[in-house]
Amino acid sequence: MSDVFSRESLRQYAADRRAEFEKTLEAIVEIPTVSVEPDRKPELSRAADQAVSLLESFGAKATRYTTPGHPIVHGRFHRGDGLPTVTVYNHLDVQPAEGDDWKTPPFDFVRQGDRYLGRGTTDDKGPAITALFGARYAWENGVPANIHFLWEFEEEIGSPHFEATIRHDAKAFATDSVVVSDTVWVSRTRPAQPAGLRGLQGFRFELQTGQTDQHSGTAGGAARNPVAEMCQLISECIDGKTGRVKIPGFYADVVPPSRKDLDDLKRCGFTVREFKKDHLYKTLRVDDALEVMKRIWLMPTFEVHGIAGGYQGPGVKTVIPPRATAIVSCRLVPDMNPKKIVKLVTDFVHSKNRDVRVVAEHALPAYQGKTTGPYADAIRGAMRFGFGKEPVFVREGGSIGAVLSMEKVLRTPVFFLGLSLPEHGYHAPNENYDWTQAAGGMAAFADYFRRVAAMP
Ligand code: BES
Ligand code: MN
Ligand code: MN
Repeated sequence: MSDVFSRESLRQYAADRRAEFEKTLEAIVEIPTVSVEPDRKPELSRAADQAVSLLESFGAKATRYTTPGHPIVHGRFHRGDGLPTVTVYNHLDVQPAEGDDWKTPPFDFVRQGDRYLGRGTTDDKGPAITALFGARYAWENGVPANIHFLWEFEEEIGSPHFEATIRHDAKAFATDSVVVSDTVWVSRTRPAQPAGLRGLQGFRFELQTGQTDQHSGTAGGAARNPVAEMCQLISECIDGKTGRVKIPGFYADVVPPSRKDLDDLKRCGFTVREFKKDHLYKTLRVDDALEVMKRIWLMPTFEVHGIAGGYQGPGVKTVIPPRATAIVSCRLVPDMNPKKIVKLVTDFVHSKNRDVRVVAEHALPAYQGKTTGPYADAIRGAMRFGFGKEPVFVREGGSIGAVLSMEKVLRTPVFFLGLSLPEHGYHAPNENYDWTQAAGGMAAFADYFRRVAAMP
């Protein structure tokens, strides 16, 4: 087996299967699986059917689970009871792709050299298909392990039905470990091994102060303006320039970074210059690298995603709008409790403006994972095998609802073998993935399965 699992054999496998990989990714990217858009239900359903066929065509058994929301697909390369089972988690739903900044149509799979463009190419369809190709290699070459796939279609809306579904059929989903491929490297030359994820509490603030638009020349001055009140409220919650959250008690439960956390950050190879380049920013709130890392990975935030209300068309239409909405979320770090944050934010908003309705949305606590022990070592070994480099320790700033659920319900440790790069543009226009990450990722996954199978 040693020869089959050489770097050279895996390089050859990836090269031989490149066209097949691209065709497979194209087919799934071209289904607009935008989970947050209610009209897309048929597309999500079609994508789940396609996922089942794909797994079956690779030699796995596959089951589609219906939920009150979008489906879940479970694939199994089952070698035998008594062998270790490793479950790969990915999500096949994507973020909306509205706006004019796309250079190519978001749901066309476009190849530009080694780069693949399209919504979902990197978050998270590309890594999902990459892991599948790695698994097929391990399966066909006799790795003595069961390899299962858990593909969710509601991750981007906070995994509302995931936990109940896996709990209901916990026997079928039983596994010895989980590996999640839905995280980002520090940079192209710095693979990352995240020690945890931030959590998330979403909100909508809604304010109605009138019934219809009114002429600002007749009512203006006396009428309440909901957009202005919403802006005032937001600035009472946060200092927009510094990012400092002004809600009393917001930071109360934040665990300060440990010595090790800070040492890991200092060593991880992050640079402000690359960060700005990858995310297309000319200026940031702060310029010090450690300060930037703390802010994106270790500290909670209060973010305004959008404020809606009033006139948006050409010219100046002189009306007073009747209502305004703000879409807001807080990233949470270890020890912050989403319920407590909902109460804190709601009470604060009402103390500032009694008429604002606060609607709490997805609630995910932060996740703290393990970076020691045999699985974590296997991740590091597999990364080194696939990409020639040891991953650095970081914490991720994003959130994945399913992770906590899998740990809780399946009572199994969760590890991360992410393949995305900052420049791939998670959630951004012109999202992309690339062949280097796919080829290295297939090798890394095949090697990871081999390592897990070899564990005592
Ligand atoms: N893959 C991301 C999570 C992520 C982001 C990991 C950045 C590492 C770095 C995931 O698809 C995602 O975007 N999650 C959402 C969840 C939310 C909508 C409930 C997020 O973090 O905003
Ligand atoms: Mn993702
Ligand atoms: Mn995402």
